[in-house]
Amino acid sequence: MEQKASQLLPDPATMKGALLTWFWCFLNGFFSVRIAALRGNMKAEYQVTVYTQDMAYAGTKDDVYITLVGKRGSSQHGKLGRNKFFFHRGDESTFTVTCSADLGELLLIHLEKRGLVIKDSWLPAKVEVRSSNGKLYVFPIYHWLKGNKKHFFREGAAVLDFQETNHQMIKTRKNELKNQKNLYRWAVYKEGIPLCMKADTLMSLPLDDRYPFTRDLEFGFTAVAALAKLGLEAWSNCIDKWNSMNDIEKLYKSHVTSTSDYVMKHWREDAFFGYQFLNGVNPMMIRRCKTLPSKFPVPSNMIFGKSWLTLRTEMMKGNIYLSDYNILDGVETNTINGRKQFLAAPLVLFHKNEYNEMMPIAIQLKQKPGRDNPIFFPTDSEYDWLLAKTYVKSADFNLHELNFHLLRTHLLAEVFAVSLQRNLPRVHPVFKLLIRHTRYTLQINFLARNLLISKIGILTLYTASGGKGILTLLDRSVSSMTYRSLCIPDDIADRGLEDVPNFYYRDDGLKLWNIMHRFVHDILSFYYKYDWMVQNDAELQNWIQEIFENGFLRRRETGIPQKFITVAELVKFVTMVMFTCSAQHTAVNDGQYDFYGWMPNGPSTMKKPPPTQKGKADEASFLSTLPDVETTVLIMATVWLSNMQTSDRRYLHQFVEEHFTEDFPRYKVTVFQRELKKLSKEIYKRNRDLELPYTYLDPKLVENSVAI
Ligand code: FE2
Repeated sequence: MEQKASQLLPDPATMKGALLTWFWCFLNGFFSVRIAALRGNMKAEYQVTVYTQDMAYAGTKDDVYITLVGKRGSSQHGKLGRNKFFFHRGDESTFTVTCSADLGELLLIHLEKRGLVIKDSWLPAKVEVRSSNGKLYVFPIYHWLKGNKKHFFREGAAVLDFQETNHQMIKTRKNELKNQKNLYRWAVYKEGIPLCMKADTLMSLPLDDRYPFTRDLEFGFTAVAALAKLGLEAWSNCIDKWNSMNDIEKLYKSHVTSTSDYVMKHWREDAFFGYQFLNGVNPMMIRRCKTLPSKFPVPSNMIFGKSWLTLRTEMMKGNIYLSDYNILDGVETNTINGRKQFLAAPLVLFHKNEYNEMMPIAIQLKQKPGRDNPIFFPTDSEYDWLLAKTYVKSADFNLHELNFHLLRTHLLAEVFAVSLQRNLPRVHPVFKLLIRHTRYTLQINFLARNLLISKIGILTLYTASGGKGILTLLDRSVSSMTYRSLCIPDDIADRGLEDVPNFYYRDDGLKLWNIMHRFVHDILSFYYKYDWMVQNDAELQNWIQEIFENGFLRRRETGIPQKFITVAELVKFVTMVMFTCSAQHTAVNDGQYDFYGWMPNGPSTMKKPPPTQKGKADEASFLSTLPDVETTVLIMATVWLSNMQTSDRRYLHQFVEEHFTEDFPRYKVTVFQRELKKLSKEIYKRNRDLELPYTYLDPKLVENSVAI
């Protein structure tokens, strides 16, 4: 659709330029004077195309005004469209803006939405301006415009701060960051954990960071809403114990996935117990064991399974693995429905057997060895062994949710996002790379703080570590968090897991990391040709400094950089941010219902203390140790909600917002997408032969950001 805008007059700066031009021509002779005269009288036309995002409520009925700003001057601030014109969602509308003189190279636009009667918000995607000489300028926006206010948007080519030569652009850049620092402020949620975005209410979050109306409707982030959708309201006020496994099964049948069904059928099996330490919802707790810790006195001459080799020999061969939950030792436990709850701090020993299965061979439920702390073996009675494994799974549930899910993905992603908004202008290449990985993180974390870990939060009320335990555990988790543990190649090497067979989290995760690393390297090397450019980028250094201070609480021992010295360091860190916000979060988030929907496979709490002797457990005592009905139902509803697929979910390969406008980065985006597609096909092929497919790191299912 094309509309004719009113002719626009040159501004005083343009007039001054024309006079100077005339003076220069006078000095340089008659021929030059003629060229200048022609220029002074030449009208310039610009084809302006405005794109509105295709999203509910993205359009506006308000009037839209634009100013084009070039190196030689600015257009007038003119209205787009002669009569009433609507910018509908998904629309692309073209207008002609006429100036009495050429504006030179275009630098930025001012965009304003004016509403006389109806004041609504508008979400433009981008503005393209084609000059009369055919040159196309693209101005990425992807930003909600609210109220009657002028907003400026730079032309899309990325520019580093020290590369700015235009005085006006330097000023504009500074103003943008000043405004962003007012809008995005740090707040302390609790001492000892990463800082968060300052927001008193959900509505006080910036519009760009809030869920659209459709997601609000679909999501309705409350356990009560989830209960209603699952049809479980009738179960939710029952604080009784479970009478039979059949009763648990009846509840579980309210929602079944193909994986949760597999879990329900195989949860008692040792091979599947071990499998989950590699490919379950928490693949972060297992490591190769070269020396048995003295606190876990398993006889080194023990033989197990079908092997005739001793534990010592198998350890020397590299076949022994350990999960040590020492971080849970002494954590104060919750009281649920008036009853004290319990949390083990177990040690689990695994043997990789001749069938390449990760078999649990010994479990000790408390850290301090002693006669009241027996070591359980697969040769013990069925329920002694099952109960020991279930205490481990309950400990794993608590540590997974608070450390590996909440802290290491949700809370870190928020730190990366807030620092990004405060320190990097939209024209910065790192902003352009990472902004899509921050989508809705501030909102989901606001909800998580209020509905999961607040005084009335579900995790506070219905997990063993709820209440004071949450803070202790988060505090300890922060202390255990290192830079290397956030970078999957380093983490896998440090845990000695490079050659463990059938470890799909590692296989897919490393491939994804490498694809991301190549992409980030190619893009950032295009803008940072030399290390000195990284060192001289004050905005970039501020970004990492705020992450170090507010995310890692100035703990040098974490290994997190406080500043970037080389391009390689920057590339690795940005890859880690990208991986953490997308792949890692999906790996530890998307399997929650699959693995916890069947409660006995991951109880959020245990009602009895870990057994101090063997031979006492049976089915009845097992059932009475599991969480009560209400706890089971509410946790089940919460994990179901956390795995809900919303219709506006964005995946790793999707670049809905085109922040890069130069040919090279745009080409690299297509290479990145091609590599992701190739990996997705490889994973699909591999999964076809698996009894239980591992899909969490299939790029076509990896969500771009921590948004749920
Ligand atoms: Fe999550």
